[in-house]
Amino acid sequence: MMDGVKIPQTAANLVLLGPPGAGKGTQARMLEETFGLVQLSTGDLLRAAVAAGTEAGRAAKAVMEAGDLVSDEIVIAILRDRLAEADCASGVILDGFPRTTVQAEALDGLLADIGQDIRAAISLEVDDSAMVTRISGRYTCGGCGEGYHDSFKTSAVEGKCDKCGGSEMKRRADDNAETVTQRLVAYHAQTAPLISYYDARGVLARVDAMAPIGDVAKELNAVVTATLA
Ligand code: AP5
Repeated sequence: MMDGVKIPQTAANLVLLGPPGAGKGTQARMLEETFGLVQLSTGDLLRAAVAAGTEAGRAAKAVMEAGDLVSDEIVIAILRDRLAEADCASGVILDGFPRTTVQAEALDGLLADIGQDIRAAISLEVDDSAMVTRISGRYTCGGCGEGYHDSFKTSAVEGKCDKCGGSEMKRRADDNAETVTQRLVAYHAQTAPLISYYDARGVLARVDAMAPIGDVAKELNAVVTATLA
């Protein structure tokens, strides 16, 4: 954790909003290290369910490959189970959830049940036109999940993860131009309205996510530090 950064004494739950490729996962992993919060990505949870061949995973697989949203019922159930685990007690960074108004309302209910709420919803503001390039150049370490990009974030030694030294790099099945286009359509139709949802509650912050990764991280750290103060 960074020196001088305030660690929350009570649960501090943050939502990261933004289209596919905005940098939610990249930034959530850094916030996790800096602030001691837990990254909770419904995309990762769904991919794990698909890999494990669970009932939810079997239902989600084709939907994800098409770039559409998995049903609220499945995603809320997965989120509810994960949120109940002990490591989430002092706060989470929600990456990719909520994505619909139904999910946002369900989240409010789940948190209210345990005496918590959303401290800040941070919208990563980007241009759609840059997202296909970001997504099609993305790869991750199969060992630890660290994310990279062919042009914007390469590892120090080609093919070797900076974090864990692993050499098995993976690309996602839904990271192709056609699916990204549909994911952007789904984002604008179903998820973008949540910016107004959180704005109306006075917890919305906006961050310019077209800047280089390090600059976005600095702005985000300032927003989160102010939120936790
Ligand atoms: P999910 O896994 O959540 O994908 P997503 O929202 O489409 O977001 P991505 O992971 O693609 O992008 P990101 O914003 O995390 O960007 P990243 O940091 O990796 O969801 C996948 C699917 O699961 C959905 O389509 C849906 O089917 C289903 N699903 C998940 N949650 C759901 C829910 N709640 N309800 C219903 N269905 C759900 O960055 C991308 C690349 O760009 C990386 O290579 C990175 O290195 C690079 N990069 C990042 N920031 C910058 C920068 N500032 N400058 C240059 N490059 C950058």
